[in-house]
Amino acid sequence: MIALGSDHGGYLYKEELKKHLDEKGIEYIDFGTESTASCDYPVYAEKVCRAIQSGECEKGILICGTGIGMSICANKFKGIRAACCGDHFSAEFTRKHNDSNVLCMGARTIGAGVALQLADIFLSTEFEGGRHQKRVDMITAFEEE
Ligand code: RB5
Repeated sequence: MIALGSDHGGYLYKEELKKHLDEKGIEYIDFGTESTASCDYPVYAEKVCRAIQSGECEKGILICGTGIGMSICANKFKGIRAACCGDHFSAEFTRKHNDSNVLCMGARTIGAGVALQLADIFLSTEFEGGRHQKRVDMITAFEEE
């Protein structure tokens, strides 16, 4: 199950992404927002991150204007590794090397077609483990300080 969230800046991309996931038969929960009315992105970042923390969802995708506010916020939550991506290589390697569980994107910085492709890459790429597991463990250890 994939958790989706956006603010007003990312709302239309989130709706496009939902159609795209529907076509692929990928299940998701939409945690809002519900329109292009101005709202606060931390509200939706929190909902998505809590759904991952609880185990309700495996991964999340957050979209705001730049993807940056969402990623800053998401990375405050224990167990969340959020990556703000605007290119295909980053979307692939943040899964392979960082075991990222949240993809953040900016609707004002990348095209909708690219956003859908980045989501596909993020959702279909496995973590490589091995030497990267140790590094992810080092990141996790910082959460205990
Ligand atoms: C909203 O105007 C904008 O600040 C937000 O979508 C996002 O880009 C924040 O990082």
